[in-house]
Amino acid sequence: MARVQLMVRWTWASVLAIVAGLCALAMGEVQQQCPPRGDIAPCTCTVKKNGLDILCEFTDQQRISEAMGALKGKPLVIFYLKLRHNNLKKLPGFVFLGLDIRHLTIHNSSLSVVEEASLSSIGKMLTQLDVSQNSLNQVPSPAFKNLHHLLILNMNHNKVNSLHAKAFQGLDTLEILTLYENKINNIDPEAFIGLEKKLKRLNLGGNGLTTVPQKSLAMLETLKKLEMQENRISEIHEGDFEGLRNLDSLGLAHNKLRTVPAKVFTHITLLNSLELEGNNIDTIDPEAFAGLEENLQYLRLGDNNIHTIPTEALKRLHRLRHLDLRANNISYIAEDAFVGFGDSITFLNLQKNDIRSLSGLVFENLNSLETLNLQNNKLLHISEDVMEPVLDTLRVVDVTDNPLLCDCELQWYKNWLRNLKDKDDEMMQKKRTVCTMSQEHREYSLTSLPLDRMQCVIKSYDDISAGGAPTTMAVSLNGLVASTTCILIARYV
Ligand SMILES: *[C@@H]1O[C@H](CO)[C@@H](O)[C@H](O)[C@H]1NC(C)=O
Ligand SMILES: *[C@@H]1O[C@H](CO)[C@@H](O)[C@H](O)[C@H]1NC(C)=O
Repeated sequence: MARVQLMVRWTWASVLAIVAGLCALAMGEVQQQCPPRGDIAPCTCTVKKNGLDILCEFTDQQRISEAMGALKGKPLVIFYLKLRHNNLKKLPGFVFLGLDIRHLTIHNSSLSVVEEASLSSIGKMLTQLDVSQNSLNQVPSPAFKNLHHLLILNMNHNKVNSLHAKAFQGLDTLEILTLYENKINNIDPEAFIGLEKKLKRLNLGGNGLTTVPQKSLAMLETLKKLEMQENRISEIHEGDFEGLRNLDSLGLAHNKLRTVPAKVFTHITLLNSLELEGNNIDTIDPEAFAGLEENLQYLRLGDNNIHTIPTEALKRLHRLRHLDLRANNISYIAEDAFVGFGDSITFLNLQKNDIRSLSGLVFENLNSLETLNLQNNKLLHISEDVMEPVLDTLRVVDVTDNPLLCDCELQWYKNWLRNLKDKDDEMMQKKRTVCTMSQEHREYSLTSLPLDRMQCVIKSYDDISAGGAPTTMAVSLNGLVASTTCILIARYV
């Protein structure tokens, strides 16, 4: 009896499922059918989960208008309309009238005029608009003003040279605005009016800005990410970032900065990531990073002209995790270079500097260090005493491209590598780091130092097969044994 009931129930369940499936088919997918190919040629159509995906390439305005005409008056959802590589100098009024378009792309199509009535009819549905790589020389504000549901606007690679007042008015739901690689050198103080409630990301990179457009930016209270890399900004000042109180990430890489003055970031206390690489920075004020104490974790200062670790400025950054000082002009690291802030650092990049020596306690405070890059410096020696404090935590080390001399001190490296070999780390088998044996005028891999001929006191943990050399267990190498997950990054042979 129970068994029959179960079967009946199962049958009803499957009938319901089938009926539900048919209904879905009838209501949704039947309607979301592509029109006959010939109707929209040369455009093509495919059915996607959320609607149609229509693509028109290498054609002109006339053909596109005709294809749009063929789509009109049907209950279609055009989830993507992509117009690429066309000759579409002007987007005419009413071209999309009667269409429901959610994501519109007009890319690399010589677009320079967007008529006022071209987009207003799709304003209720459009969430993404991409007009990248065209010939727009200003923001077509009248055409944009009814896009009240737009979340993302991409105007990258156009010819906009200034942002006029109220350029984006009406786009009150916009969260992401990108203007990368235009020619912007002037931004009206009222340019971003209308964006102050929702805008989260703004990309002004690759333009011609010479200063931070402070007055224009100040109203963007919700902004989290501001990119101004690849401009010509030569100075930043205290107050430049006032108002941006939710900023999480600031990109100023590849500008023309020479100094980082005192208190310039004091208004953006939530900042987590600061990119300053690729400038000409040679001076960092001791108070440069004031205000960033509680939240800054990523600081990129590579490709500048910094001569010493800016300890005084960095001292306050007790949350700092990632410090990149690659490709600077650092020749000397003071013993107390990391005192006060080194404890939280997990990533330290010092590659491509001019570092000649590392003295005794220099890494002593780097209690969390996982990645250390010393590649391409002028180091002759890297002693075990210097490395010992960080070997516990290190997972990645790069000391390639240094003029290392083979000496007994380099055993820390070999022992570490043995640890990796135990784990059969295939990547490491292909890499090697070398030192030069001056008497023999030849290079040795640090994995195969002739320790006995060098008359070293051999330090290791397991049995030594190095030709009957004396064996001494090194007490101070506990850290090495403990670092079971280290990876040694070195140059490929
Ligand atoms: C841009 O479109 C033209 C056709 O109008 C095409 O020849 C060219 O390769 C496209 N450029 C890129 C970068 O796609
Ligand atoms: C690097 O620093 C040295 C002095 O420490 C200086 O002579 C040299 O000019 C600097 N290099 C650059 C590119 O500024």
